[in-house]
Amino acid sequence: MLRELFHFFVTPCPKTYRRLGYLSGLIAIQGRYKRVADHWRTHLDNSRQLILHAAAQTPQRNKVVVIGSGLLLDVPVEMLAKQFNTVILIDIAHLISVRLLCMRHSNITLVEHDITGLAEALLSYRRGESLPRPQAGLPAVAQNADLIISCNILSQLAITPAQYLQQHFVVDGERLANWRQEIIFNHLALLTEQPGQRVLLCDVFHDYLDRNDNLLYREDMLHGIKIGDPEQQWRWSIAPEGELDASYRLQATVSGFSNWSWP
Ligand SMILES: C[S@@+](CC[C@H](N)C(=O)[O-])C[C@H]1O[C@@H](n2cnc3c(N)ncnc32)[C@H](O)[C@@H]1O
Repeated sequence: MLRELFHFFVTPCPKTYRRLGYLSGLIAIQGRYKRVADHWRTHLDNSRQLILHAAAQTPQRNKVVVIGSGLLLDVPVEMLAKQFNTVILIDIAHLISVRLLCMRHSNITLVEHDITGLAEALLSYRRGESLPRPQAGLPAVAQNADLIISCNILSQLAITPAQYLQQHFVVDGERLANWRQEIIFNHLALLTEQPGQRVLLCDVFHDYLDRNDNLLYREDMLHGIKIGDPEQQWRWSIAPEGELDASYRLQATVSGFSNWSWP
């Protein structure tokens, strides 16, 4: 708890993102990772390998951009810093541990940026208005990358905005579902516009399993949006029994593409 409070107060993070709950979410990921690191290892290794494979295939290595760099658990950042002239890491915030690591490399730039373009509009949203439109955009420094990596972020993009709306307003379920799809679609459209090689790593399903491995519930994390047949797919034990609840565990299915394009 003290550790969480420390990070909450010392991490540089725009006020808007704090108010929407993004920073607390990022700190919570760090807490969960510390508790269940062994269960995440295969997923993190697979993600790093796929990124390195994509980097090896990238003919020109001037700039690499990572969207959703977070705690850099699934990003081989030191290798990328060796292989590319410039590394741009984009997330809502960058915790102290990430800042200390990146200070060792003069070619890494950290950017605090809301990749959905929704944060400001959400805070000024009023009841009865149409929901704000996502406007995914890259900061100038991240334009024209040779390699761009959407790093296990796609399924997360709609979660915090939808939670904020549900906490403060009554929003029709179908309207919210369409809006979630629009946010995901908008991110994929942003990736499509990029000139370089595009890595897409994302969790596509969340399975809730009981002690006997019976499937209790499957959640479609992309809300019906099809991203194509993955080059690689694996399971990620996000929360073993006891982490969320004593009676079930949560396992994701992750899809990986080293050069994604619309199917
Ligand atoms: C599941 S984590 C990805 C894991 C991360 N690559 C790592 O190694 O720690 C999702 C990341 O997306 C970030 N994120 C969520 N919504 C975002 C947004 N609208 N703009 C930028 N980053 C966002 C979160 O802060 C978090 O770091």
